[in-house]
Amino acid sequence: MTAAGDSPATPVVELRSISKRFGDVLANEGVNLSLWGGEVHGVLGENGAGKTTLMRILYGLSIPDGGEIYVDGDLAHFASPKDAIGAGIGMVTQHFALVRPMTVTENIILGRTGGAILDLDRAKDLVEEAADRYGLHVEPDRRLSDLSVGEQQRVEILKALYRECRVLILDEPTAVLTPQEIRALFATLDRLRASGMAIVFISHKLPEVMELTDRVTVLRHGKVVHTVETDEVDAAGLASWMVGRPAAPPEPRTHSEPGATALEVSDLSAVGGLDLPALSDVNFEVAAGEILGVAGVSGNGQTELAEVLSGMRKPTAGSIIADGTQIAGKGPKQVIAAGVGRIPEDRHEALVGDMSVANNLILEHLDEAGKRLILDRDRIRANALDLIERFSIKAGPDDLVKTLSGGNIQKVLLARVLVREPRVIVVSQPTRGLDIGATAYVRNELLAMRRQGAAIVLMSEDLDELLELSDRLIVLYDGRIAGRVDAAEADRDQLGLLMAGHTEVA
Ligand SMILES: Nc1ncnc2c1ncn2[C@@H]1O[C@H](COP(=O)(O)OP(=O)(O)O)[C@@H](O)[C@H]1O
Ligand SMILES: [Mg+2]
Repeated sequence: MTAAGDSPATPVVELRSISKRFGDVLANEGVNLSLWGGEVHGVLGENGAGKTTLMRILYGLSIPDGGEIYVDGDLAHFASPKDAIGAGIGMVTQHFALVRPMTVTENIILGRTGGAILDLDRAKDLVEEAADRYGLHVEPDRRLSDLSVGEQQRVEILKALYRECRVLILDEPTAVLTPQEIRALFATLDRLRASGMAIVFISHKLPEVMELTDRVTVLRHGKVVHTVETDEVDAAGLASWMVGRPAAPPEPRTHSEPGATALEVSDLSAVGGLDLPALSDVNFEVAAGEILGVAGVSGNGQTELAEVLSGMRKPTAGSIIADGTQIAGKGPKQVIAAGVGRIPEDRHEALVGDMSVANNLILEHLDEAGKRLILDRDRIRANALDLIERFSIKAGPDDLVKTLSGGNIQKVLLARVLVREPRVIVVSQPTRGLDIGATAYVRNELLAMRRQGAAIVLMSEDLDELLELSDRLIVLYDGRIAGRVDAAEADRDQLGLLMAGHTEVA
C-alpha cells in the first residue's frame, strides 16, 4: 500500500482500450481508465452506460473482448475474481454475495483456505481495527440475517480489506442507504483514501460524485466522454456529458392552494407477502392539488401501501375514501372507476410487452367502452396517435411495447392513466431506471397533474425526488408512519432518522 503523501509514479491499475460486446450492444468500447493510490475515482453515467460491465471486467467477473489491464505497470490477466483479488482488487457489487445464516466474521473469511480458527481470530482483529481506523462499525458475532442493508455493505467492505485490497470498487453503493448511512460510508471512504487506497465510486447521482470524488470519468454508450478533476467541473457540466446535450432545467414549481380532501386513509392495516404485518394503523389525508411523498427505506410497507390503495391487495382493516367513495377491499377495476389512477413500481407488470402500444393504451378502458371498442381498430389507432403526440412517446401505434426504451414505456403508462384525469394518483418509483430527459418529463407531468387538482401519493426511494415534488412527506418504517414532515421544512437528517426507525418525539 502506498503511504499517504507519496506520489506514486505508476497508477495502481490501468485499463487500456477495453471493449466488451453483448450481442448488438457495445457495452464498453475502447475504454481507458487509470486509478491512482489515494484517489476516489467517480465513474458516472446513465443506466446502461457500461459502468458495471467495466468494473466486472476489472474484478475478473467478465472477460473483455479487447484491451488490457495493467497492475502496477505490469500486464495482468484476470480469468476470475480470484485472480483480481490476488492482484489487490476488491469489489462491492450492487447485490451482496453474503451468506445470511453465517456470522460477520465467518462471512469475512469465506473463500479463504487455511486454518479456519486462525482466520477467525484474524478476522475478528480486523473487524476491531477497521472500526477504529475506518469507522466501519459492525459486531463480529452477529448473523448476517440480523444486519441492516447498510451493515451488510460494511461487511462486504471488510471482506475486501481482509483480502488486502488496494483498489476498492463500489457499484452504486448509496442506492440502498439512508442519508446517515451515506454520510458514514463517505467518512469511511475518506479514511480509506487517506490510507492510500484507490477507490472506484460508481453512481448516477451528481451531488454525491461532486462531494466525494477527486476525479471523475463519464461514460456514455460504453465510451469514455471525459475524465476530469472533479474540481474543474460542475454538476450541470457532468449532466450534459452523461446525456450528450445540455440538461433541461426543471420547471419552476408553482405553489397551488390545496383543495378539499380527495383521499382519506384511516386505520389502514395489511399483511405482506409472507402473511407478515406490512402496514399497521396507517392514517393520512391528501388534498386535491397536493403531492404527499412517502419516504422510507425499501421494504417498510411502501409496496403494500401502493397495492392496497390501488385495489391490488386487500387490507385487513381500515378505510380508504377516494373522492367520496369507500374503496377499501374493492378490486382494481372498481378502484379505477372511483377515479384512482395507478402507476406501479413495475412498469412491465402493468403493460403487456408482447402487445402493441395502441392496445396497451386502451387496456384499462375495456370495461366502460365495451367490446365495441376492442373491435373498433380505427378508434384504437386514433386514440394511440393522439396520446403518442400528447405524451411525446417515441414509438408508433403498432410497435410492441417490449421494444420501447424504459422512458417511452413509462410514458405509455402515464398516458393511459393520466388521460382519464384521475382525481387520485398512486405512483411508485416513477423515474427509477429512466434517463435524465425522461425523468424530467415524468416529474413535470406529475406536477402538471397536481396543478390540475389531482391528489397524488408518491412513493419513491429517491429522497431528492420526494423533496423536489412533494408538498408533505410521511415516513414509513416497519409498516407504520414514523413521522410527518412539511416538505418545505424537511431536513435530511431528520428524515434519515425517521427512515431508520427513530420515531418522532411529539
Ligand atoms: N450479461 C449481459 N448480457 C447482455 N447485455 C448486457 C449484459 N450486461 C450488460 N449488458 C448491456 O450492456 C450495457 C451496459 O450495461 P451496464 O454495464 O450494466 O451499464 P450501467 O452499469 O452503466 O448501468 C447495457 O445495454 C446492458 O443492457
Ligand atoms: Mg450498473
